[in-house]
Amino acid sequence: FFPKEVEIIEVGPRDGLQNEPEPIPAEKKKELIAQLAKVGIKRMETASFVHPKWVPQMADSEEIATYCNQLGITYIALTPNMKALDRAIEVKAPQIAVFIGASNEFNKRNINKTTAESLNECEDMFSVAKKHSMFIRAYVSMAFTCPFQGSVSFEDVKFVVDRFVRLGADEIDIGDTNGQADPKIVYERFARLKDLYPEVTFVGHFHDTSKLALANVIAAMQAGVTKFDSSVGGLGGCPYSPGATGNVATEDLVKMLSKMGIKTGIDYNELLNVSPYAKSLSTRV
Ligand code: HMG
Ligand code: MG
Repeated sequence: FFPKEVEIIEVGPRDGLQNEPEPIPAEKKKELIAQLAKVGIKRMETASFVHPKWVPQMADSEEIATYCNQLGITYIALTPNMKALDRAIEVKAPQIAVFIGASNEFNKRNINKTTAESLNECEDMFSVAKKHSMFIRAYVSMAFTCPFQGSVSFEDVKFVVDRFVRLGADEIDIGDTNGQADPKIVYERFARLKDLYPEVTFVGHFHDTSKLALANVIAAMQAGVTKFDSSVGGLGGCPYSPGATGNVATEDLVKMLSKMGIKTGIDYNELLNVSPYAKSLSTRV
């Protein structure tokens, strides 16, 4: 089974750049966003209202979000807590993303709370976000393995997914944060999730550390997933996931899908011109 159409959500301006050690001028980030919008990308992650001390590169997220509003694009802003949600509401971000680790150890390092504490904070956040008609993306990070905890069981993942479903997330994004998943576990986990929650929209978010991200996309599609995150130029990595490299490269994903006759709405040849610009912003690729 392969879908006729897939939605690609570009995460380069957020996941791709968040870990860059040197400050990238906001003007350059805006240029990247504008170029991505031009090649047919309909939705992207561009802002992250995390603490600027924890992730300095994202400190200009208000300015970037304001620019995205002016461009009129649909963008997602990361909101780890209520303070972040307030900032997202202030700039009128249309979509937010909460991100919680299936691994408790990762969650404490990444957002300074246990998984259970973070889920509790989500109760209020979801109800406030819904009052503001925001679309809610909910990430389950380290959904396959974790560099701190080791193995992550399906039950660990289900525990977080279950709460997100009950809270009414608009989509649930399953993250291979450290890029260690393989097609077998990806197929099995997505197939079980689709079985347990047939009404839920799941997204695949694969980091390419083991060079298996494209294979993981194939496995997830076979389990019925039709939405994937990717990062132009393969940029990225989470600062609290040591050694993890970027997301699957958008151009590789678009090329593979178009060879398979699966529509993405993205112009591959034009996208190829954006990739060198994206890479020029990074010291890591
Ligand atoms: P904390 O230090 O525990 O926060 O950080 P706190 O609630 O204890 O508050 C301490 C101070 O920070 C207070 O200020 C707050 O107001 C302030 P004070 O009263 O002392 O002056 N504060 C904030 N300021 C600005 N924005 C905020 C905010 N929150 C509190 N949002 C926090 C908790 C969650 C903020 C911190 O841990 C954080 O920013 N973590 C973000 C880590 C991160 O960005 N990681 C990368 C993204 S996740 C990822 O990449 C994975 C993903 O791609 C999916 C995948 O690959 O699986 C999404
Ligand atoms: Mg990520």
